[in-house]
Amino acid sequence: MYVPNETSSMKSVQGALLSSIQLDRNSQITLFQQLDKAMRKLILNGAVIANQRLPSSRQLADDLGVSRITVKNVYEQLIAEGYVYSKIGSGSFAAENLKREKSPRPNKRTLLKYSQRKSTPKHVLSEQSKRITLSKATTRIAETRSFRPGIPALDVFPRKLWNKYWKEVNTNCHDDSFGYGPTGGIPRLKNAIAAHLRDARSVNCDAEQIVITTGAQQAFVLIAFALINKDNIIWYEDPGHIAGRDAFHTMGAKICPVAIDEEGLDLDQAIATHPKPAVIFTTPSHQHPLGTTMSLVRRLQLLSYAHDNKSWIIEDDYDSEFQYRGRPLPALQALDDQGSVLYVGTFSKSLFPAVRLGYIIVPHDLVAVFSAAQSLLGQGASVLMQEVVSRFIEDGRFADHIRKMRVIYQRRRDVLTVELRRQCSDMLTPVHTDVGMHLIAWLSDGLDELKTHKALLELEIETIPLSIFSITPQTKAGLVLGFSGTAPDDIPPLVEKMANCLKSLLKANTT
Ligand SMILES: Cc1ncc(COP(=O)(O)O)c(C=O)c1O
Repeated sequence: MYVPNETSSMKSVQGALLSSIQLDRNSQITLFQQLDKAMRKLILNGAVIANQRLPSSRQLADDLGVSRITVKNVYEQLIAEGYVYSKIGSGSFAAENLKREKSPRPNKRTLLKYSQRKSTPKHVLSEQSKRITLSKATTRIAETRSFRPGIPALDVFPRKLWNKYWKEVNTNCHDDSFGYGPTGGIPRLKNAIAAHLRDARSVNCDAEQIVITTGAQQAFVLIAFALINKDNIIWYEDPGHIAGRDAFHTMGAKICPVAIDEEGLDLDQAIATHPKPAVIFTTPSHQHPLGTTMSLVRRLQLLSYAHDNKSWIIEDDYDSEFQYRGRPLPALQALDDQGSVLYVGTFSKSLFPAVRLGYIIVPHDLVAVFSAAQSLLGQGASVLMQEVVSRFIEDGRFADHIRKMRVIYQRRRDVLTVELRRQCSDMLTPVHTDVGMHLIAWLSDGLDELKTHKALLELEIETIPLSIFSITPQTKAGLVLGFSGTAPDDIPPLVEKMANCLKSLLKANTT
């Protein structure tokens, strides 16, 4: 135990700190109890730190205007319980090694000990935890930087309008909305989503088939949990959505890469190369990340193959409402009359990621399994948030919002494309896209994807290297750049920074 001496630099607790303790002389709680409680609180919340000297009982009694006996009794009690220790001739001190709410800063020796500790050898990690650790889904950093793919225009989100709905729900909703709510989501939101999807995506479903989730990712996890056995085969687009792939892999499925050609997922390659799948994962309306739209012929072939082989198709329809030419192509689910498609949608793109709401359309006989799976894996989405979004959709606000965002994103896409062509022309080639919130830019020879990504990140520009989405090595190096989340006026100076960065990377490579 650390014992302070006369020359110790540790300051004693100032009378001011302890005299801030408020004692109520009219209370039924005794002065002893009040002081005892207040002292414990000061020690536990870190206001009084370990080994700090407490004022003498005489001084504290004077400061607080209580009898010295009361203070002495409190100190004795705190000593008996280990909050305080005393040193004859030196006084009383706050004890060490208490689990404080605000822990004191560790000293250098402790820090060194932890930094030298490489792993926790006592714990044998499960197979899943090894797969989780290897996942690249967490490559992206939490704080949003410019050009991060998949981020909506949060700078122009209609907060006032949203707050109106939020306030209305919080004020007028039934008490039940502050509870856990029904597993699988509230009927009101299911009805609103079903009506919206019928209209916007030609989706063919009853509201009862919808399970509300906390986003598309929870939908993938629910599918993996409820429908996948260990070693089941999953055909997965390559390159493809990282987090979905890693969720299935973590659950023990075998991921088989399927290349993308100009018509979408290359079904012939998959049939020729891989065993029959339990599940086929696809983003037919806007291939993630390459941007291809699956042709009608390929859609029909895929549905027919899935039906004949009793495979599920997961249709991840994450951002296809943002279509900049013509009407969005109907969802793959709209063509499915055999019940093979599990349709997954999210509000992360159409509203904002923090809403944490998504949904999955499943056949009637699977609704109970999926809802129960959601209970086992933790709770579903916030009922209050579900109430807000229900009203937002019912009042036509959601459709309006998508219409407005479509115009905004189209402009942002145009500005980014023009600037990339103008400022980075011989270093990077942007690929035109008519759907979604991101574009691909191919890198010229001499630029390494990962190095470029890291160098840009230092400049607060967040691209994703194409290789991170890929299972098999890709022949072309490219970056995925989001355009939806960056204001048009910010784009030219950011692209200028990019251009300078690419130039210096190329120069360093040639010298
Ligand atoms: C292809 C794809 N699907 C789905 C999602 C949405 O995930 P969530 O709804 O869990 O936010 C994303 C998010 O980045 C995505 O890129």
